Amino acid sequence: MGSLKNEEEMEPIGGESSKDAILYVNGVRRVLPDGLAHLTLLEYLRDIGLTGTKLGCGEGGCGACTVMVSHYNKVLKRCVHYAVNACLAPLYSVEGMHIITVEGVGNRKTGLHPVQESLARSHGSQCGFCTPGFIMSMYALLRSSELPPTEEQIEECLAGNLCRCTGYRPIIDAFQVFAKTDDAFYTNTSSSNLQSGEFLCPSTGKPCSCKSKSLNGAETCKKSITNENKYEPVSYSEVDGSTYTDKELIFPPELLLRKLTPLYLNGFGGLKWFRPLKIQHLMELKAKFPDAKLVVGNTEVGIEMRLKRIQYKVLISVAHVPELNVLHVKDDGLEIGAAVRLTELLQMFRKVVNERAAHETSSCKAFIEQIKWFAGTQIKNVACVGGNICTASPISDLNPLWMAAGAKFQIIDCKGNIRTVMAENFFLGYRKVDLTSGEILLSIFLPWTRPFEYVKEFKQAHRRDDDIAIVNAGMRVFLEEKGEDLIVSDALIVYGGVAPLSLSAVKTKEFVIGKNWDQELLQGALKFLEIDIFLKEDAPGGMVEFRRSLTLSFFFKFFLWVSQQICMKKSTGIPLSYLSATQPFQRPSIMGCQDYEIRKHGTSVGSPEIHLSSRLQVTGEAEYADDTPMPSNGLHAALVLSRKPHAKILSIDDSEAKSSPGFAGIFLAKDVPGDNHIGAITHDEELFATQYVTCVGQVIGVVVADTHENAKLAAAKVVVEYEELPAILSIQEAVDAKSFHPNSEKCLKKGDVDLCFQSGQCDKIIDGEVHVGGQEHFYLEPQSSLVWTMDSGSEVHMISSTQAPLKHQKYVAQVLGLPMSKVVCKTKRIGGGFGGKETRSAFIAAAASVPSYLLNRSVKITLDRDVDMMITGQRHTFLGKYKVGFTKEGRLLALDLEIYNNAGNSLDLSLSVLERAMFHSDNVYKIPNIRILGRVCFTNFPSHTAFRGFGGPQGMLIAENWIQKIAVELNKNPEEIREINFQGDGSILHYSQQLQYCTLGQLWNELKLSSDLLRAREDVKQFNLQNRWKKRGVAMVPTKFGISFTAKFMNQAGALVHVYTDGTVLVTHGGVEMGQGLHTKVAQVAASAFNIPLGCVFISETSTDKIRVQYGKTLVSVIFFLLCSVLGVGRLKLHVKDGLMQDVPNTSPTAASASSDLYGAAVLDACEQIKARMEPVALKHNFSSFAELAEACYMQRIDLSAHGFYITPDIGFDWTTCKGNPFNYYTYGAAFAEVEIDTLTGDFHTRTANIILDLGYSINPAIDVGQIEGAFIQGLGWVAMEELKWGDAAHKWIPPGCLYTSGPGSYKIPSMNDVPFKFSVSLLKGHPNVKAIHSSKAVGEPPFFLASAVFFAIKDAIIAARAEVGHHEWFPLSNPATPERIRMACLDEFSTRFIDSDFCPKLSV
Ligand SMILES: Cc1cc2nc3c(=O)[nH]c(=O)nc-3n(C[C@H](O)[C@H](O)[C@H](O)COP(=O)(O)OP(=O)(O)OC[C@H]3O[C@@H](n4cnc5c(N)ncnc54)[C@H](O)[C@@H]3O)c2cc1C
Ligand code: FES
Ligand code: FES
Repeated sequence: MGSLKNEEEMEPIGGESSKDAILYVNGVRRVLPDGLAHLTLLEYLRDIGLTGTKLGCGEGGCGACTVMVSHYNKVLKRCVHYAVNACLAPLYSVEGMHIITVEGVGNRKTGLHPVQESLARSHGSQCGFCTPGFIMSMYALLRSSELPPTEEQIEECLAGNLCRCTGYRPIIDAFQVFAKTDDAFYTNTSSSNLQSGEFLCPSTGKPCSCKSKSLNGAETCKKSITNENKYEPVSYSEVDGSTYTDKELIFPPELLLRKLTPLYLNGFGGLKWFRPLKIQHLMELKAKFPDAKLVVGNTEVGIEMRLKRIQYKVLISVAHVPELNVLHVKDDGLEIGAAVRLTELLQMFRKVVNERAAHETSSCKAFIEQIKWFAGTQIKNVACVGGNICTASPISDLNPLWMAAGAKFQIIDCKGNIRTVMAENFFLGYRKVDLTSGEILLSIFLPWTRPFEYVKEFKQAHRRDDDIAIVNAGMRVFLEEKGEDLIVSDALIVYGGVAPLSLSAVKTKEFVIGKNWDQELLQGALKFLEIDIFLKEDAPGGMVEFRRSLTLSFFFKFFLWVSQQICMKKSTGIPLSYLSATQPFQRPSIMGCQDYEIRKHGTSVGSPEIHLSSRLQVTGEAEYADDTPMPSNGLHAALVLSRKPHAKILSIDDSEAKSSPGFAGIFLAKDVPGDNHIGAITHDEELFATQYVTCVGQVIGVVVADTHENAKLAAAKVVVEYEELPAILSIQEAVDAKSFHPNSEKCLKKGDVDLCFQSGQCDKIIDGEVHVGGQEHFYLEPQSSLVWTMDSGSEVHMISSTQAPLKHQKYVAQVLGLPMSKVVCKTKRIGGGFGGKETRSAFIAAAASVPSYLLNRSVKITLDRDVDMMITGQRHTFLGKYKVGFTKEGRLLALDLEIYNNAGNSLDLSLSVLERAMFHSDNVYKIPNIRILGRVCFTNFPSHTAFRGFGGPQGMLIAENWIQKIAVELNKNPEEIREINFQGDGSILHYSQQLQYCTLGQLWNELKLSSDLLRAREDVKQFNLQNRWKKRGVAMVPTKFGISFTAKFMNQAGALVHVYTDGTVLVTHGGVEMGQGLHTKVAQVAASAFNIPLGCVFISETSTDKIRVQYGKTLVSVIFFLLCSVLGVGRLKLHVKDGLMQDVPNTSPTAASASSDLYGAAVLDACEQIKARMEPVALKHNFSSFAELAEACYMQRIDLSAHGFYITPDIGFDWTTCKGNPFNYYTYGAAFAEVEIDTLTGDFHTRTANIILDLGYSINPAIDVGQIEGAFIQGLGWVAMEELKWGDAAHKWIPPGCLYTSGPGSYKIPSMNDVPFKFSVSLLKGHPNVKAIHSSKAVGEPPFFLASAVFFAIKDAIIAARAEVGHHEWFPLSNPATPERIRMACLDEFSTRFIDSDFCPKLSV
């Protein structure tokens, strides 16, 4: 885009001008051309081929794009290093700096950095998409720390990085090897990190549980192999053994000497970028461009320009203006330049708190606490104080504190005049402040506090770490002693999140001034607060009752906290148990424990091998779909999407789009060359809508342009006129309107439910409803496909991020009217799928294939995070209506259940999801009489789809809800009810399958013992007695998960194995590697089969052209069966089709947890065929290696390639007779959880989670543990954190049918801070599974539901809170149990001012 402007062409900036703009990337000097002001650093890096840095969200919310920035700080006279989100950093903001990306840290050729090595070895990467971001955050921490960081600092620095796969524990383990050991661990003195009962490992001096009791009783707890050596030094390079330090990139000497110059550069659409270095230059620019936006971190402006599509014409980077960067400690307070970054501010606050008298720094302490929970580290490293203030967001975390603390703002105008405004008076309205267009904020003055002056911060968010507030507050009171009394002399109470601006509670202030600090003041203030803070029922953001309750809760906490501060002076008469309200949340370092046995089989099976791609992932060398380079004439696609939930399309006007920059074409339904009808099971969807749209986000067409941004811009210019039609926006509305998908009603029956209810056998019959919330997949890698043609469209190829390449092949062939044989889809790996890329990725690839085919050009489509979340569907919400009859002991007699799922606007997989929910509606309980009626609801939402568990968790959650209600009815613990109803060997389920080899009882008892359930209950009871405002709860929940696709035909798999003459083996199979370690496990199977090291086996990619396999050869089948028994495959039966060559063109999606079973067996089949052919040669000679044998076979013209095939035996279910075996076997598990809730705010944390799972003889226990931990944390998100908010009757402030929670900013998946303090995983020992390969069991989905133990522990804690105010009746709690649901269920004198006792927060279902 052109080169730098000549000096004379530049805008004059105080006579100075820049000659060149440069930056260093990984030690390489790069000249930055003019014209790129619109680019982010991330776009630039990826454009120059550094694709290790990933785009996960583009809004600073996931950390996948983390890089390290280094520059020379002239004031500090040293280089400073810090992590930033490259997706928000404007390219020119790093001019003159050194950027280190993951590629610059280390790679496999030159050697891995210890951080990379440690993460790889600790099983810290699964799909690997988040991995470079984690590496860079940790690397930047180490580079910026003079001393080794503490464990707390390490966990803190990772707060801005999300991982959806691992559950974080292995990442923490990997990085804590770099931590400074806390002396307290050695001296055993009081330390916040050291919990009572924890044990110090003598070898490491760190807390560990190597002497604590393991989950299965008396044995010592073995950590996984990698963790045994966790504190030993890691090797640096596997290639040449050299130490890494020789290769550490130094700060480029040129940048040390280089003088920073002012910059004036340009960008797309006339955008101007200035970088003044002096205040007068800045003010000149401001005078010339009054509407210019000042930027420092660009964390607000970047979001406004990218997500809200606001076009600013002039950006002025003020990060280097010295006057805006002052940090002066003065006699009367602190002077803070407006451009001071939050990290610097935090450091300064910590310094003054250490250095000054305690009474002076009450405000500083409040800021320290508030900044701790402000965004992630990457954001705090760049975001400035002035940016936060001047944005004037109503939920700014700092503005209420500036106001309360009595800060003053210095404002400068273009003439250099300075005026001062009290922070309290600065905010005028929604994002409106007291600045004229010629003025800017210069600095902030924060006065020291006086004796008896107290300042306190408050914040409640959906998630503690890296989340914006629901409500926050800053409060200050200044007390004066008058005789015995302490009288309020001054006060300020300011709230965020309750009005369009940070709101001062004026009447409350007036009331408290002059009053004594006592109960009377408290009661009066609460009344005035109700008047001051008023929210209308339909206030934007919803949660009105919760927000209002929080305002009172916060003041109550403030009252108690101040009372606590002054209690030395006078008695306040506050009960001790009330002080629980003021105890801040503190977490110790996470303690993980993994307990399993290693059952080795051959060279590799059974070993806890690390993920085969982990070294590629930690170095950023692993490639994903969007990393594929585009050919020079390639185009980018963006979708034209419906904005209405249900409407008739009246017209589509594309004229403006056509004149948009870089536009290359628009394609609508009329342009589709083949069939416009698509669908996973039935063709009930249109690729591009023709006459009607049935959801917001439905695809109407596709636009292609030269860049991704231009494609989006053009697509946004397509004007669609609609005639709106009534929309169905909930399950209940669908039920009322009888809006069901055709032929989707299902019924399962056992016994006679009606007769049982009428017979009088039931001592009690209860009924109720369960609303089960949905969940966004939030795979870190958004949906992406690159499509191209060959031979002028005769062939179409694509690389797609999908779990089902075959579906892509099929959809594309169909919409283009091509035979499937001419369409190829390849998938190397995907950055997480969880079911979301099983069917809902295919229509995206198909949409991109239309322009690619018609224009004969490559077309790439990568969805932005918000679009991805809006259009690709989620976990189904469910409504369950139950009636249960049981004896007075709690023995179940009859269940009558109706369940409905919200399918959205197409059937997709919803019927199968419903069926699995019906199969799992008994969870693990014997129910003699059962009737389940299921229906799939048609609603005007995007089609919901597969998600880990596939309906099973929803069915089980409904079951555990009525179990819990029975327990309340009978005044017993739920565990008692569970135990007396357990199924066991021989139990015949409601779909006629009989349980065999059931290990439920054994693992339940082991867990009960190791978790010491009774003791835990007693401890919790004592805690609850002593703490009025914090409550703990415990729960233990079992699970049973059926393994197999419930659609019988899908239980088949093909594989292709080649043995090369160097003794290496190439395996290709139909499964997709999405982080779950499938390729690793399958390679282990092949390695053990050939008795060769794992490193000799390679699995390249999944491709629809390679997995068309031919099968036959009965002789080989016989040999194979013989070898299976020799190799100890146990009673596993591999079913091979005999006879003529069989064609197996259709591989199933990688789903249903069954892929290792299926593809492992198919690969083993192929390996055994080859081995049988090699055997005669092997018997004749004594070969020293497998390579020699392979070479000898080759010389004897023996075919060293084989196709393997496997079908799961003895399964199939007939819905007409309700008989059969839908599942091959079951995976059993149980979990114990203990939580603590803050009843005043709804905040919660999980103190302990113990999990036990029966995985037979695990093929790779480390990978299996990773799956369990990842599933559990993902499940924890579903049950307790992740809430989808749609525009529906429950959320009228959201436009109908629109998804409000469409990015990491508003949709909160668990972060590192949500991992249980103690997190133990144990695999049941000594129970081989006779039904699957090498006696193993499937793992991906079964542990997901176990997180419901956290949900029921939360409920247990709420029960305790309610009991304290006399509410003993049962109450409903829907998932997710967010702070809103927890707080509002804990009825008390504050919440009941706004709600009745049966209040339930609204949920989109
Ligand atoms: C992922 C993420 C998480 C976040 N979390 C939080 C959070 O937890 N709590 C919270 O409160 N906020 C949060 N924010 C909001 C944001 O980070 C802060 O508001 C930040 O402090 C803005 O600083 P900045 O330097 O990035 O501002 P910029 O985007 O660079 O500028 C913001 C605005 O301030 C104006 N401005 C900047 N300096 C001046 C000045 N000297 N005089 C006049 N106007 C000026 C600019 O013109 C612009 O309009 C978050 C943002 C993101 C992206
Ligand atoms: S891509 Fe930058 S934070 Fe998510
Ligand atoms: S490994 Fe972290 S998102 Fe997949």
